[in-house]
This record gives sequence, C-alpha cells and structure tokens, in this order.
Amino acid sequence: MPEAVLTLQALWESAGAVLAAAGVAEPRREAIRLWSDLEQTPTARAMLARAESVAAPKAERFLAAVGRRAAGEPIAYVTGWTGFRHLELACDRRALIPRPETEELVGRALALVRHGVAADVGTGTGAIALSLATEGAYDRVIGTDLSTEALALAAENGSRVGARIEWRQGDLLAPLAGEMVDLLVSNPPYLTAAELAALDPAVAAWEPHLALVSGEDGLDAVRGLLDGGRSVVRSGGWLALELDCHRAPLVASLAESLGWREVSIHQDLFGRDRFCTARWEG
Ligand SMILES: C[S@@+](CC[C@H](N)C(=O)[O-])C[C@H]1O[C@@H](n2cnc3c(N)ncnc32)[C@H](O)[C@@H]1O
Repeated sequence: MPEAVLTLQALWESAGAVLAAAGVAEPRREAIRLWSDLEQTPTARAMLARAESVAAPKAERFLAAVGRRAAGEPIAYVTGWTGFRHLELACDRRALIPRPETEELVGRALALVRHGVAADVGTGTGAIALSLATEGAYDRVIGTDLSTEALALAAENGSRVGARIEWRQGDLLAPLAGEMVDLLVSNPPYLTAAELAALDPAVAAWEPHLALVSGEDGLDAVRGLLDGGRSVVRSGGWLALELDCHRAPLVASLAESLGWREVSIHQDLFGRDRFCTARWEG
C-alpha cells in the first residue's frame, strides 16, 4: 500500500505557496483546479474530500504538475485536457489550446447549417470538427490541418469522442480538392509576429506559432480561405471564420469584393468583432 502523506488541504496549501511564489494569479484557486483537472473530479467533490489523506504517488504527481504550472506552462497542457462546449479534449503542445470564443464560432456555424457536408480548416485539437459532428446532423465532417502533429492529436480526440471525422492533412483548402461543402468553418492563424510578441508571453512560449501567425499582415490564411472558399462552398452554403477583432472591417470588405453575399461581422461575448459569416451563391 502506498504511504499516505498529507491531507488534500495541506497539499493544496503547499501547492498554493509554490504557485504564489511563481507569481501565478489566484494561486489557491489554481491549485484546486489543477487537482480537479488532473483527477478529473468536480471541484465540489474535491472540496468535500479535503480532510482526507492523499497517497504519496498521487501527491507526487500533483506536485510535479504544480512545478510545471509554476514554470509558466498553461494549465491545459499540464493536465493534458481541456473542456470545449460539451466535450473533454486531450490537449498538448501539438495544438493550440481551444479558446472560449471559438465555442461561439461553433454556435454560429451550427445556427447557419446543420446538414450536408461540413469542413473545419485548421482543426488543431479537432475542437470545431468534433463539436459539429456531435451537435449537428451532417452527413460528413472533414477536419484538416497543415500540421501532422495537430492532426494526430485531433484523430486521438476523434477516437475518444467516438465521432466519425475525415481527417486530412494539407495547406488550407488543398485537402478539400474535389469536395463541395455546405459549411466551411475555420479559426485560422490571424496574428502578425509582432502581435504574437505583444501577447501574454506564455502564448508564444508554449503554443505552436503555426497556429497563431499568418504572414506579414496576419491575413494570409483568411485571404486564402475567402478566395479558395468560392470553389469549395456549394451554392447556398456558408462560410464562418474567427478573426482578429482589429481586422474585421478589412475582412468584411475583402469578402464582399470576392463576391460573398450576406457578409456579416459578429461580436463575441466581450463585444469584440470576432466572427465573419458569409454565404456563397455560385
Ligand atoms: C488558431 S489555430 C485553431 C485550432 C482549432 N481549430 C481551434 O479553434 O482551437 C489554427 C490552426 O490552423 C493550422 N494551420 C496553420 N496554417 C495552416 C494552413 N496553411 N493550412 C491548414 N492549417 C493551417 C494550425 O496548425 C492550427 O492548428
């Protein structure tokens, strides 16, 4: 039997002290969240068990995770998973950590088209493709990425979730050659290198730059999707993109100049212009 060393409460206190010394905001709350996420147990249940002893191997695993978090690694990479809409997804440095605003992008996409063929370009962990597959009623869902590593993680998540996705590797719309889709969704890279450098340093230090930076003006991927999307989206079908809020007017006028109809910019929950939807009429 492993030796019982500390109560959960004492373990959280020493973890909180390590995180506080590392400058982590709300160290105690993070310590409890790390524990809950690692043990995949609801925080409320963990709180109820805080007077119980923790076996040494479990405590060691937790303190190792606390050390990684104190060194600046994002919590989703430390615990190896993250929540996205109703899904629990494996998450590691092969792909960007899915963000809450992307959950809104999925909601908008589902409100536009729920049937036919859907494609998610730049799928990362597979978050968008898997949400569409599990919440919509599509005949087929295709998830693509330029990164073979990200695509391997997406496929692992597909197996966990039990969703049937066609995973395809390649640049932007190349993997969709020969396809006509009813819904094209993407959260593409949309920053410049200078903008990435100005973000929270943890983003640039830990997350894949391929997922974040797109050319000198941050618009290479968006331009490619708006342009190439015209021969991939079937007549009457929809495009839904996540954007950098500073580029929304530019993206809307580019979409209009390329012949997209019903071009709309939508705000996220924080009131920032973050999404572009448009219909193709070929
Ligand atoms: C902002 S991340 C989005 C990941 C995921 N869809 C999400 O929302 O969490 C952009 C993704 O696009 C991929 N990517 C970057 N350039 C690409 C390209 N030229 N063609 C296809 N995928 C690309 C990256 O590897 C990354 O997975």
